[in-house]
Amino acid sequence: MMSTIKILPENLSNKIAAGEVVERPASVVKELVENALDAGSDRIVVEIEKGGRSLIQIADNGAGMIRDDALLCIERYATSKIYKEDDLFSISTLGFRGEALPSIASVSRFTLVTRRQDADAGTEISIAGGTIKKVVDTGAPVGTMVSVRQLFFNTPARRKFLKSVNTEMGHIVETLSGIALGWPKVRLRLIHNGREVKHWPGVSSPRERVVDVMGRDLDADLQELSFEDETLSITGWTSSPAHSRSTSRGIYIYVNGRIVKDRVVQHALFQGYAGRIVKGQFPVAAVFIMVPNDKVDVNVHPAKNEVRFAEQKKVHDSVRLCVSQALDQADRKHWSSGYRPPDETGAVFPKVAERSTGEFSYGKQVGTDQWVVSGPASRSVADHRPLTTDHRPPSADHRPKATDHQSPLPAGQQALWSKKQFKDLKYVGQFRDTYLIFESDEGLVIIDQHAAHERIMYEHLKKKTHGRLEKQILLIPETLDLNFREAAVMAEIIPGLKELAFEVEPFGGGTFVIKAAPAVLGGREVKPLMLEMVDAVLESGHGNVLENALDDCLKIMACHGAIRANQELKLAEINRMLEQLDACDTPSNCPHGRPTWVTWPLSFLEKAFKRIV
Ligand SMILES: Nc1ncnc2c1ncn2[C@@H]1O[C@H](COP(=O)(O)OP(=O)(O)O)[C@@H](O)[C@H]1O
Ligand SMILES: [Mg+2]
Repeated sequence: MMSTIKILPENLSNKIAAGEVVERPASVVKELVENALDAGSDRIVVEIEKGGRSLIQIADNGAGMIRDDALLCIERYATSKIYKEDDLFSISTLGFRGEALPSIASVSRFTLVTRRQDADAGTEISIAGGTIKKVVDTGAPVGTMVSVRQLFFNTPARRKFLKSVNTEMGHIVETLSGIALGWPKVRLRLIHNGREVKHWPGVSSPRERVVDVMGRDLDADLQELSFEDETLSITGWTSSPAHSRSTSRGIYIYVNGRIVKDRVVQHALFQGYAGRIVKGQFPVAAVFIMVPNDKVDVNVHPAKNEVRFAEQKKVHDSVRLCVSQALDQADRKHWSSGYRPPDETGAVFPKVAERSTGEFSYGKQVGTDQWVVSGPASRSVADHRPLTTDHRPPSADHRPKATDHQSPLPAGQQALWSKKQFKDLKYVGQFRDTYLIFESDEGLVIIDQHAAHERIMYEHLKKKTHGRLEKQILLIPETLDLNFREAAVMAEIIPGLKELAFEVEPFGGGTFVIKAAPAVLGGREVKPLMLEMVDAVLESGHGNVLENALDDCLKIMACHGAIRANQELKLAEINRMLEQLDACDTPSNCPHGRPTWVTWPLSFLEKAFKRIV
């Protein structure tokens, strides 16, 4: 009888491993950049085309490889980082499993060019779908360049899972930001379709890198963490609760230079913030933990993004204490006279001066030759276009639509005074500084002052955009720090914003400067408004081009510019509002579709008081 169990051919087992290691372009970037770091590089250039679909290329100035090593490194379980079982428990490098290169090479068209400093020539190896196609000597600078073209070309099912260019690029930027934060001395550049989208110069102070990556506006608001004893060091920065976010994306945790998702540390971080942050909000923080390599198991996840501490409780409690002490200190800053109890200054937690988590020793001098980043000579013009987000079908937009055109009257709002006008209403009073109460012949009319004014502002703005809005130059320009996707949106809507009398200028990276705002906003803060606009455009996918986006912007501007709830109004203001409502095309709803007024007809009151049955 024939046996049915077979050992899988290597090419197939590599593809299976690739399923774990290579989830998407960002995971290729992670593995290859980690290899570059393990090789002692201090300059790494990441070049991407089409969100990683066409090209992912990582060039480094690290140790490089001789020909024999280059041929070996693409074999499964080939690694220079561990040799014997004991090594598994003292891993000081980011990689150690020997899986990344063969996995990636099995699902792409893969080229490796590498040269070690003491070698006369470099080696170039080309592989397609795991099969070696070419091995030649070549001229090359010291270091390594890996090019991954047409990722998943031979695994169509995986290729289908790739998301839009912007989404994949967002993941790549996130991955690289995490690495940048952990390795401040390393210079990192990210190029997409021939354009530089990120450049983090090597810096000697980790704090500088934190600000570079997490945003300038945190600069004045970072509390330093520091703890050290023989088996544990904690450094890093936390931001004040005022900067908290609605996702955990502002939390970066590193263990021995490796970025990890660690529940223990994250939990400790939250506990450190206890009582300072509302439920559902997340702090912004970078926490760098260093422990001896034999006190942490890094081999618990194929993508190596989880760890297990030998002294878990100690790590947890130290992080919690460290964070809460840093925040306490910041609280006290506002009113302390400068006096600090002596035992707080360092006896318990000596400061670690300028400790870089990127410091690992490789016993090798890093070469200075630099890769010239070159693409194919004739890059098509289309590749230079700025990023566009995916075009979603209109049906994907589930948000309530404004009822501009059909305008059905909300319940309780039957054409009460179809022939009458708002200005005929007799003012009774203001309830809770939010609702205006009026008397009409037929009963009581209650107007939501914010919703009503929002409608007025919206229609006013809409008419004005066709004939120029008045602009107001900001005395102090405001700066906005946006993440990659937000910045792409902002760059796209700048011309439209100009139509709305905003002056916004890119300032490099994700930073933008707001120089002028529409006068109609009356000096209100524009930053939150801007962020909301960008969010709205992001959410709607802005497939329906600028017009929809601008309409969203108008609604947001109307909302920000409108009279708020909890605001006492003068009679003159109320009368003016009524007149303006009369002039509106759709006075019954705010631009988001909420009613601007409701009514209690007399008959309702009479029934309630049993005057009629
Ligand atoms: N950029 C690089 N520079 C120098 N050597 C490299 C580079 N990338 C990979 N290597 C070599 O190839 C080996 C295999 O890499 P990889 O498959 O990622 O496994 P691992 O990193 O787990 O060892 C590494 O151990 C290293 O010796
Ligand atoms: Mg590796």
